[in-house]
Amino acid sequence: MAGSVAYERKGRIALIRVMNPPVNALSQAVRAGLDDAMEQFAEDDDAAAAVILGDGRSFIAGADLSEFGKPPQRPYLPDVINRIEAADKPVIAVIHGTALGGGLEVALGAHYRVALEGASVGLPEVTLGVVPGAGGTQRLPRLTGLEPALDIVTSARRVPAAEAAELGIVDALRPASDPAEAGVAFAEELLAAGQGVRRVRELPAPGIDAAMLDAWRDKVAARAGGQIAPVTAIDAVAACALPFTDGLAEERRLFEHLRESPQRDALVHAFFAERKVARLPELEDVAARALGHVGVIGGGTMGAGIAVAALLAGLEVTLIERDGEAAEAAAASIGRTLEGSVQRGKLSAGARDEILTERLRALSDYDALARADLVIEAVFESMEVKQEVFARLDTVCRPGAVLATNTSYLDVGAIAATTSRPADVIGLHFFSPAHVMKLVEVVVPEGADPQAVATGFALAAKMRKIAVRSGVCDGFIGNRILSAYRAAADHMVLDGASPFEIDRAVVNFGFPMGPYAMSDLAGLDIGYMTRQRKAATRDARERVPVHADRLYELGRLGRKTGRGYYIYDDETPKGRPDPELDTLLADIRAELGITPRSFPGDEIRKRYIGAMVNEAARVVGEGVARRPLDVDVVLLHGYGFPRWRGGPMKHADQIGLYHILADIRALAQEDDFFWEPAPLLADLVARGADFDSLN
Ligand code: COA
Ligand code: NAD
Repeated sequence: MAGSVAYERKGRIALIRVMNPPVNALSQAVRAGLDDAMEQFAEDDDAAAAVILGDGRSFIAGADLSEFGKPPQRPYLPDVINRIEAADKPVIAVIHGTALGGGLEVALGAHYRVALEGASVGLPEVTLGVVPGAGGTQRLPRLTGLEPALDIVTSARRVPAAEAAELGIVDALRPASDPAEAGVAFAEELLAAGQGVRRVRELPAPGIDAAMLDAWRDKVAARAGGQIAPVTAIDAVAACALPFTDGLAEERRLFEHLRESPQRDALVHAFFAERKVARLPELEDVAARALGHVGVIGGGTMGAGIAVAALLAGLEVTLIERDGEAAEAAAASIGRTLEGSVQRGKLSAGARDEILTERLRALSDYDALARADLVIEAVFESMEVKQEVFARLDTVCRPGAVLATNTSYLDVGAIAATTSRPADVIGLHFFSPAHVMKLVEVVVPEGADPQAVATGFALAAKMRKIAVRSGVCDGFIGNRILSAYRAAADHMVLDGASPFEIDRAVVNFGFPMGPYAMSDLAGLDIGYMTRQRKAATRDARERVPVHADRLYELGRLGRKTGRGYYIYDDETPKGRPDPELDTLLADIRAELGITPRSFPGDEIRKRYIGAMVNEAARVVGEGVARRPLDVDVVLLHGYGFPRWRGGPMKHADQIGLYHILADIRALAQEDDFFWEPAPLLADLVARGADFDSLN
């Protein structure tokens, strides 16, 4: 029965089995079921010990996140766990798969914990904007000591079974086997040895070292970048110095406070949005095509990265470059990246050798692609070159092979149209570095075969990436929205703001980097080339970022030339503002007849985020993105939008669309072309609705 807990007995051992697929989340029904089972156990005179275990692929993955934001329902988890702990006959938790969050808290309420090989435990609550709220921060330090508990709670990391045993979180490690059998065997051993109940709450709390806590606060705050929960988690763990029930109450108070916070709302939104992006109604019953052998055309920055991602996903890769020398260079670049993984302990030397000798071929002969199931083109960003490549692919690839382009901006439909099989052509837009960044936009031109699209999603899943469907437009979802908020930043620079102030305001908002530091990293030539390409079709009312063109013309291309907006040298490898820029900008403003004015941080933020949300509303309104949540996932995973704000659409909902629209309308007074409100935004405000109503 779904959502419930079964009680049965194997001899004198009671088995309390949680059955709530797929991950045994602690829904109200599960909490009530555990409560009932503990009552039954107490009354069952023939049961000498109880084993709590999870049905299916794992123990318990924690609180049911879909219940967050709704009124809490009894029984509450802390009470259920206290009841488990209070049992006067031994209770054993058998952990297989994962015991996360409330799942680990349940296990900590048991008197003994057994982990099966392959299991891991953790308290990931801070990634969801809360702290453990059912005793995790109080019981864990009593088992591990203070620092390991602080580490586990603030980092949210998964602790493998062996380490959990070393830290004293679990009492025994057993080979992977049936959890019920392992639990019964352990319980019988305990009883035979005359071992009784052993409550974690009765163990002494570790001593608190105030200086050490302060050091942790500094370290975690620096890493958290505006997120509250990881820092609050330190206070929760520190409360273990109080008498146990007072510590529990303090932990619960902190948990409940965070549960109502916008950050928790945003982070849970991000969690579900990431899982919903790949669920598209039109693909529900569509099978992906076979996928074992991938072709990659071009072995530059993107091609080599994509090849690494495919190789690490277990695929065979044939990479095609322009000539033998370029092919060798590409293979060497792939080898270096894999070597880096070996050095960092992420890949064994044996696995690296197998990849390079058995599964990678880099050559210049397109005929080698005859067996490929899917080919990703990553050559120069030129329609002419790409169309040439696709014409070649059309002649060499077998029927049914999916042909994909990694273009950033070009019309995927126009590329498809040059082949005799346009329905098999899609865009697969990876982000740099492609073997690291999790986002892929699956670009679907009109008339694409759903199977080809499903195969694009399947490739992303194999690579453990997050795929988001995008329609065709200039820049697709992400780069199109980026162009809009970049333009808003450039307008401010033209009108008097310093690029450094803008970067600072954007970093203060929670992005890892501002737009000008980003330009320097990517290279100012990229934006310049894009502007050149669009120049012929540019609307006369569009403002040109003269400063960016000027820097390009001065050969200041960013990090690669040591100078862009910032100066990069041995002294400041990460860059320092260049004072000469002030003069350069002052000259440009004078040339353009602009009287400079200042932009305070909140004004910068209003314009940057306003432009982002307005363009995103257009992207959704036009159907380029299916839902606002698709935009959120793209900005979170491709552009560094702070996760604890949920993405631009979630953030806009939290601020209130009415306020966003009012700001945009006010800005339209100074530039009614750029700040024209998106029809969808105006419509939602008129209806009193929010973006979430469209998810
Ligand atoms: N509450 C509600 N639903 C949950 C859930 C939870 N705690 N954890 C997972 N799910 C759902 C997912 O939404 C997904 O649903 P879908 O199939 O309808 O999309 C399904 O369970 C499977 O999850 P998924 O993440 O796709 O599976 P996985 O095997 O890759 O990972 C976990 C499993 C448990 C590791 C992962 O889901 C996870 O980290 N969950 C959150 C755990 C957590 O943070 N718990 C603490 C809560 S305070
Ligand atoms: P790059 O210049 O680093 O690499 C392009 C490679 O393609 C070169 O090695 C070149 O030798 C090869 N090539 C050119 N013509 C070829 C042909 N006919 N046959 C085989 N190989 C050929 O460029 P990049 O940055 O890797 O970009 C590639 C594509 O990916 C572009 O369309 C770009 O817009 C897109 N893209 C780039 C990024 C990024 O951040 N760099 C991100 C997403 C998408």
